[in-house]
Order: sequence, then structure tokens, then C-alpha cells
Amino acid sequence: MSFISIRLSTVRPGLIVPFNVYLKVADNYVHYLHKNDDFDQVRLDGLRSRGLKKFHINEEEELNYQAFLAQLLDNVHLASNEVKTSIALDVTENSTQEMIKNPATEKSYSMVKSSSEIVQKILADNDVILREIVSHGRNQNSSLSDRMQSHLINTASIAIKFAETLKSDISTNSLGIAAFYHDVSFTGYSAEEQKLFFKDINEMDAASLTIYKTHPEKSVQMLQDKSFAEKDVLDLIMAHEEKISGQGFPNKRTKLSPAQEVLSLCAFYDREVTCLGRDPKHLYNNLMIDQVGNYNLELLKQFKNFLKSYL
Ligand SMILES: [Fe+2]
Ligand SMILES: [Fe+2]
Repeated sequence: MSFISIRLSTVRPGLIVPFNVYLKVADNYVHYLHKNDDFDQVRLDGLRSRGLKKFHINEEEELNYQAFLAQLLDNVHLASNEVKTSIALDVTENSTQEMIKNPATEKSYSMVKSSSEIVQKILADNDVILREIVSHGRNQNSSLSDRMQSHLINTASIAIKFAETLKSDISTNSLGIAAFYHDVSFTGYSAEEQKLFFKDINEMDAASLTIYKTHPEKSVQMLQDKSFAEKDVLDLIMAHEEKISGQGFPNKRTKLSPAQEVLSLCAFYDREVTCLGRDPKHLYNNLMIDQVGNYNLELLKQFKNFLKSYL
């Protein structure tokens, strides 16, 4: 049996939950609350006093979880930033976990799509939640798979918020999905090759670089024969390592659509911080020097302002 985890902080007293609730005790899942019961104040206080941060639901009740999320989101404008952050982390962690386990299924794709929409809704007109989401997943001691998961969540959240601030006609739906999927081919490489995702490109030998440069195309290949995968999403994934200087890969393109350039810039920035452990302040200070030519100057200026305001 597989479980979806939900942060206890998303639940308020009196909220009826449309699924069975389990608690994880040692390595076992213990049934705690029946479907359509509510978390009353005494129960919530009891769980919190035990230091419990998450509860679990059986994956088979996934549709009920979606209904529960819709209910939370209907009232999301009333929720505190802490609750909104918890919802965003729950949905992005659950969907990227599923995507990493089963990259090419329609179920993963629709979970990612709905997380992308939820993140858009939660980040809209909010100045602080992006920082909370991004800082959450930057633990350099986690496993490579967990760090990759954080990189995908962070890149998507940054790209969605940055695109919103640009007030352009970029489709944040496609951009968000592509950002969640951009390095999904990570899962298809050997353990040794996976380490390349956490290595500076300038420190790779020629053979490693050749392998690493196959990853955008491999990500696209995982999805391209699937009827549910949209073409503009695939085009964005394919171009996420391209730079307008022609120094990117795999096709050394010099022309990118606005959405492709935004994804490339956000994926580059978050790889530096989340995957390579670079100091965000140093990156901020050197962005206009190091990345000139790789991205349009105006976009770099806008990204710098964005970093200052939201990260
Ligand atoms: Fe990449
Ligand atoms: Fe990446």
C-alpha cells in the first residue's frame, strides 16, 4: 500500500476529511480517523503535542485528496501564509515523488499539472511564500534523489512566480509543468551518472559532459509518445539548457521564445543554488557579469529585481 503525506498544519479544527487518516508509528501506518470524520481541537492538540507534523492517506483515495485540496483552495485567500506554504509543499512533494517513481504515466502528469496550478494560485500576489518553499528544500546532505526533487520544485516555483511578475503573455501552465519535468531523465541514469547533475559543468571531463548533455532530450523522450504531454511543454523541456549565446546544449540555439528563456534562466539559477550549493548572494551580485550574452540584458535586470524582492 502506498501513502500520500499531508502536513498537519493544513488542517483546522472542525474540518471534515473525505478520506481515512493514518498515522505513521515506527514503520507502520496506523488507522486514526475514519473517512468523513473531522479533526477536532482535542485531537489536533494531542497530535501536535506529540510533535507530529504529518498524517497519511492511502494512495487509493487520491481522488478524495484532490477534493480535499479543492476545498482548502476555495478558502485559500483566508489561510495564513504558513498554511499556504504547507499546501504548496504537500502538493509539490507528492506529485514530484510520483513523477520520479513513474515519469511517463498520465497519473504523474496530471498530478504535476494540478500542482503547477495550485502553486500559481498560492504564489499569486504573495511576497513571502516563494522564499519559504525554496528555502525548505536546500539541504545539501539529503540523498541525490531528494535534492533533485527539491531542484524541480524550486525551479517550477521560481519560474511560475518570475513569469507572473513579468506580466507577459507567457503561459504559466506550460512553464510550470515543464519546470517540474525538466530534469526528469535523472531517474534514467546510473547512480554514477546521476552525480553529474550535482557537478559544475566546467569540472566535467569530456566523456561525462557528453553524457550530461543528453539529459534534456532524454527527458523529452520519456514523454514524447504520450498523448497527454503537450507539445509546448516538450519544447520547453528540450530547450531548458539552451542560452541565446549559443553556448547551451544540446542544439546550441541562439533564439529562444520568452518562456524558454525564462525556464532556462530559472533552471540555471536554481541548479547553482540547490544542486551545486552556491551562495545566492554571490550569484545575485555576479548575475549581470557572468550571464551577459547568455540571456537578454533586460531579462537579467528583471530577474535581478525579482531575486531581490522574492528570494
Ligand atoms: Fe537540466
Ligand atoms: Fe535542472
